[in-house]
Amino acid sequence: MGEVRGFGISHSPLFSRPKGDMAFLLSQRLADPAIPDSAKDISKWPEAMKKEWSDDKGAAAGGAHHEAMLQDFNRVRAALDEYKPDFIFMWGDDQYENYKEGIIPPFCILAYDGDMTVKPWLQASSSGSMKGKPNVWGEPMDFEFKLHFHREAAKYFVDKLLDENFDMCYSYQPNEHPGLAHAFLNATLYLDYYRKGFPHKIIPCSINCYGREVIGYHGFADNLSHKPPPDPHSPTPKRCFALGQAVAKIARESPYKVALMASSSWSHSFLTQKTWRMTPDIETDLKLYDAMVKGDYDLWQKFSLEQVEDCGGHETLNWFALMGAMKELNQKVTWSNILPTYIFNATKVTAMFEPA
Ligand SMILES: [Fe+2]
Repeated sequence: MGEVRGFGISHSPLFSRPKGDMAFLLSQRLADPAIPDSAKDISKWPEAMKKEWSDDKGAAAGGAHHEAMLQDFNRVRAALDEYKPDFIFMWGDDQYENYKEGIIPPFCILAYDGDMTVKPWLQASSSGSMKGKPNVWGEPMDFEFKLHFHREAAKYFVDKLLDENFDMCYSYQPNEHPGLAHAFLNATLYLDYYRKGFPHKIIPCSINCYGREVIGYHGFADNLSHKPPPDPHSPTPKRCFALGQAVAKIARESPYKVALMASSSWSHSFLTQKTWRMTPDIETDLKLYDAMVKGDYDLWQKFSLEQVEDCGGHETLNWFALMGAMKELNQKVTWSNILPTYIFNATKVTAMFEPA
């Protein structure tokens, strides 16, 4: 019988940026002529948002947000090092990286083999917002980072999912994006903040979180006047939840020691139409967070795709898979933290789970 534990972290590209520059997306929105002046009027913003923005356009708050995120990454890294899994099975969004016009699978296990040396800053996609930009480590464009994979176990999961009538796709090499897609790469870069090396093998499992906005918007969103036709929608949260349940069952019955990890922030400002794409839906995130901490996974299971899209929670679909897994395994949160923010694009949640 396999041993399994759940983890969830953010992979926000903003964390890679110099600390004083984390509010740049909101600055872009403020320059968008399609957004009404009333939404840009700072005097009408919530008090917490004004406080973050302050008189330095979020520079000081960005430093504090970065430090708080770092504490959470360090905590998860220490737990992983202590747990010593055979691999991390990681759910993450493909943000117009390997999922492009050629093919958009709902889910895909990246059954990469052995080691891979990547150049994070040179290979970043434009949707990852770090291509050619200075990073918080001050690393040069040709900086190299080493990753480790577990093809044998990845194939095991694909086979078993097919047995469970879950028609899982797989790939042995990157389709379009050189290196590793940002959801998985950033997770490892952040869990190895001090660049000691990241020894844990990973099995990335992509989810088409961006759905209607994956091709038209290239997994991102710019000015409101840009309105490409929507693409077909993402897999539903119920299907992601069911995937998590199936993966958990397979992991539990496998010969492996497994870490199941969701990699993403929750509501994203640039995906939240009702706030003019300026701020995330903090209220909905707090409701989901409260349910997660209480172990009320049924609330997650009942969430509709319309609710996910309404709150800009497209990337939260990665966590719907994790919640399905935690329900299947009857695991509860042992430690978690939420960092709500109005100006740094997305709500960051970190969590660790163990059997109840
Ligand atoms: Fe992402």
